[in-house]
Amino acid sequence: MGNIKRIFALIITLFVISAFSRSTFSEQLHKRQNKDNGLFTPYIPLEPTPNPITRNYEVELSQITLAPDGFTKTIFAINGQYPGTVIHANKGDRIQVTVRNNIGEPSVIHWHGMFQRGTNWYDGVSGQTQCPIPNGSSFVYDFSTQEQRGTFWYHAHTHGQYMEGIRAPLIIHDPNDPYRKDYDFEYIITMSDWYHQRVSDMLAIRMSPNYGGRNPIPDSGLISGAGRYNCSAAPPGSECRENNPLAEYKVTPGKKYRLRLINTSGLTHFMFSIDNHPLKIIEADGEYSKPVIVNKLPVAIGQRYSVIIDANQKVDNYWMRATIDDRCLLINNQTVNFDSAINYNVTGILKYDGAGSGYPISTEYPDQLEPCLSIDPNLLKTLEPQQIPGPVTNKIQLVVTFRDDDQNVTRAFINNSSFAVDDNHPTLEKFVSDDVPLDQFPANQNIYAYDQLGGVIDIAYINNNSAIHPIHMHGHNFYVLGTGSGIVVDESKLNLVDPFPRDTFVVNSTSWSVFRYKADNPGVWSIHCHIEWHVEMGMIAQLVELPTELSKLTIPESVSNLCKQQDNSKRSKFSRRNRLFNADMKRIKV
Ligand code: C2O
Ligand code: CU
Repeated sequence: MGNIKRIFALIITLFVISAFSRSTFSEQLHKRQNKDNGLFTPYIPLEPTPNPITRNYEVELSQITLAPDGFTKTIFAINGQYPGTVIHANKGDRIQVTVRNNIGEPSVIHWHGMFQRGTNWYDGVSGQTQCPIPNGSSFVYDFSTQEQRGTFWYHAHTHGQYMEGIRAPLIIHDPNDPYRKDYDFEYIITMSDWYHQRVSDMLAIRMSPNYGGRNPIPDSGLISGAGRYNCSAAPPGSECRENNPLAEYKVTPGKKYRLRLINTSGLTHFMFSIDNHPLKIIEADGEYSKPVIVNKLPVAIGQRYSVIIDANQKVDNYWMRATIDDRCLLINNQTVNFDSAINYNVTGILKYDGAGSGYPISTEYPDQLEPCLSIDPNLLKTLEPQQIPGPVTNKIQLVVTFRDDDQNVTRAFINNSSFAVDDNHPTLEKFVSDDVPLDQFPANQNIYAYDQLGGVIDIAYINNNSAIHPIHMHGHNFYVLGTGSGIVVDESKLNLVDPFPRDTFVVNSTSWSVFRYKADNPGVWSIHCHIEWHVEMGMIAQLVELPTELSKLTIPESVSNLCKQQDNSKRSKFSRRNRLFNADMKRIKV
């Protein structure tokens, strides 16, 4: 009897040792590929604290080589990883992030979806709210989450840098989450496109005279930083690993998971689904929704959702799909990387504990959705009824067209004016510190101001163009009142009863959308397409909200000092594309 027990104990010990060494081995392997950023580990929400606290984070931006899809390239990383460090806080907490910039060129970080009420200068938009952080310097962003909770992200906001890797999740937990009983664990899932060429090189081509192509085509799609490239298409001499590991999310049978989905792309729209697992939507862009169950969920660039899935299926592996709809990509044979070997069927794996190691054999839901758009705005209802602001005090109409400027560079025009960034003279600084009156700003700054405290703004965003644009606004969530085809707003189609508020919404080709919000947040707020190529082509307007209130505020010294540092720094410090852009700006001015 004793012997049997001893042998049994020995077997258990051997089993534990072997399991342990196997897991450390695979962890080490994983680390060489990418530092573990925790995305594949289920977690429970942060412990609430009796009072709000300050969450301190360090973010180091640097150049590293990484192969998220098997193809090795130099990227801009956050703390040596991609996607970068996840920032977690509770509702009401303060977030303090020290950004150390070592990427070799100036950078800034924007907190996508955070309202920055009272701290417009920490919104992190180069040339609009701040001067960029010079290479080799640090800067501290310091803002309160206030009443916000939900799924957000942070990313560089200058010259396409985020497409090179500076993008990461930002999660604000709600100690009073009304859905907390409906899930056991959380996961974060990011979806992004991925380019093998340097973004700066592609931008220079995209913005060159007589370029006859469209937006550069990515080489891969990634789920949480993992994808797979067909290495036979890699240029000779490059380093490429076949059969790169796919994103793998483990679930325990019988448990429920809140998945926080974020599309952090520069160009691509994703259709997300998990075979055999319907998605229960509970949050969109930081706003709780009544539960809505869908099989497939379109996620436009910049949008976020929380969905709950139930691990109630047969123990097995299931495909997680983040399909890129190529109908959303305009392409001709002059387009950079037009012959990309990208696999539009981007996949990951949902793996039940106890499932075998083979690939899933599950089948995709047959649902056919309209390509490239947001989920029907009328499907989402706020969890609690909300008072829709009104009556309207200011109507702003933004009409987008694309055409060549007089240098034969294709640019985006808003009301006939293409935005040109002036990195080292940010609007906020010029207006608040240098007292430049708003009507003295050059036309290419695309400034729209409104000054009635508590006023109600309707933005009619009119897309007079064949491309599709995910429009994102800083400083607010706006109510999506309606959308329709044509370039004339049909007032009868507006929902003034129960529209859903969000911060990113897709305006279809040759279509309009109307967004409503209340003017209660003094600041310079960017409203732009979140296709990063379109941003560089000038598809930005600056909303100067409550200038009278804004002018009374004092910009912190650490922020103003960035501009002084820039004044003293030599031009040569700037990258080629900064100079390119300044040249563009002069051209536009004439
Ligand atoms: Cu996600 Cu202007 O940004
Ligand atoms: Cu666009």
